[in-house]
Amino acid sequence: MRSVVLLGAGAVGRELLTQICQTRQVGGPLKVCAIIDRSGVAFSPKGFSRRTLINLAAEKANGVGVGLSAIGRLASPEESIALVTSADLEAPIIVDVTAADTATLLRTAIARGFDTVLANKLPIGSSQRAFDGLQSLARKHGRRIRCEATVGAGLPVIDTLHKLVDAGDRIDSIEGCPSGTLGYLFGEMERGSPFSDALRRAVDAGYTEPDPRVDLSGLDVARKALILARLIGFRGDLDRVSVESLVPVQLRDLSVAEFLARSREADDALRARVNGAADRGAVLRYRARVTTTTISVGVCEVPRGEPLASLSGTDNQFAFETARYRERKLVIGGPGAGVSVTAAGVYGDILALAADRSTPAHRPRSNRPSRRREPPAQPASMSVF
Ligand SMILES: NC(=O)c1ccc[n+]([C@@H]2O[C@H](COP(=O)([O-])OP(=O)(O)OC[C@H]3O[C@@H](n4cnc5c(N)ncnc54)[C@H](OP(=O)(O)O)[C@@H]3O)[C@@H](O)[C@H]2O)c1
Repeated sequence: MRSVVLLGAGAVGRELLTQICQTRQVGGPLKVCAIIDRSGVAFSPKGFSRRTLINLAAEKANGVGVGLSAIGRLASPEESIALVTSADLEAPIIVDVTAADTATLLRTAIARGFDTVLANKLPIGSSQRAFDGLQSLARKHGRRIRCEATVGAGLPVIDTLHKLVDAGDRIDSIEGCPSGTLGYLFGEMERGSPFSDALRRAVDAGYTEPDPRVDLSGLDVARKALILARLIGFRGDLDRVSVESLVPVQLRDLSVAEFLARSREADDALRARVNGAADRGAVLRYRARVTTTTISVGVCEVPRGEPLASLSGTDNQFAFETARYRERKLVIGGPGAGVSVTAAGVYGDILALAADRSTPAHRPRSNRPSRRREPPAQPASMSVF
C-alpha cells in the first residue's frame, strides 16, 4: 500500500481528498498519512479514515488551518516535513499542491525515499539548476516524479508525451494554448467584446489569478512551456523564453484595482489586432511553441481551420508534431483549468505510481541507434518523470 503525504490543502488539495475518499481508494492501494499546510500538520502513519479526511477537508474549507484542526498540530512546513519523513512510511508519495517554492521540502522527502507528484509548477518550472537538482536526486534515490497537472490540468498532455517517446517517436515541437484565461479573453474579443469588459467578466467568474496580470503577462504560460520543453530535452532558464506580455507598460506597477479600472487603455490596440487578424481570415491566440532548443510564448494569428482556431471558452489545446505525426498533428484538447480536473490529474499520477511500484525510476529510454526511417529517440534526461 502507498502512503500519501499531501503538501497543501487549498482548493485542489481538498478536492483531491474528496476524490480519493469517494473512489474508495483509502484502505485500497492508498492510505493518506499526512496533510500539511502553512499552519501545521495532521499525521497518522497508519493512515486516516475516510470520515476523518472528509471532516478535515470540511474544516479547512471553513478556514480552519490544518494545525488548528481537531487532528492537527501547529508546525512550520519544514517541521512538518521533518516529522513525516523521519517516520518509516510504507512506499511514500509526497503530493505538492501548493503554489510555493517547495524545492527544499521536496528534496528532503525525495532523499528519504518519497516519490513525488506535482501540481505546483515552481519546482520544475523555474531554474534549470533546480530542475536538474530534483531530477538527479530522484535518480540517485531511485524515485519518480510525476507532474501531469502542471500543464493542461487533467488533460493527458505529459502522459502522451511520455508514451510517444517510450514508443520511439521523436517530438519535434509542441504547440498550444495552455491558458484558459487567455483563451477565454481572445474568444470574447473575437465575438466583439472590448478587452476590458472581457477581462472584468473573467475576473468575476474566477478564471484569473487574484492579480490578472499574472495571466496577462504570459509568465504562467511561460512556465508551462518551459516544463514541456524540458521534458523533450530543452535546457535553459525562463530568461531564454521569449514572452509577449499583454499588460501595457503604464499599467504594470499599479494596484489590482487601479489596473482593472484603467484596463480599457489596452482596448484599442487589442481591438485593432483582432480586427486585423479577422481581415486576413485568422483569429488571435495566445500560443506557446516549444522545441528542443527554443520556446516562444505570445499572441499569434492562427488561420481559421487550424486546430488552435477552433478553441473555445477556457479550453486548452496542445498539438504534437513528431516524426510519426507530421502530416497531421496529434491534438489534445479540453478543459485545462479548474479544481476538479486538476485534482483528477494529480490523482491519476498517484494511482500510476501505485501501479508502477516495481518499475525502476531510472529505466533507460531507448538509446539504441535508430533503424533507418525510425526517428532517433528523445534524450534520456527526463527519465525520472
Ligand atoms: N486551480 C486550478 O485550476 C489549477 C490548475 C492547474 C494547476 N494548479 C496548481 O495547483 C496548485 C494548487 O492550487 P490551489 O488552487 O489549490 O491553490 P490554493 O488554494 O492557494 O492552495 C495552496 C495550498 O498550499 C498551502 N501552502 C502554501 N505554501 C505552503 C508551504 N510552503 N508549505 C505547505 N503548504 C503550503 C496553502 O496553505 P494555507 O491553506 O495554510 O494557506 C494552501 O493550503 C497551484 O500550484 C496551482 O498553480 C491549479
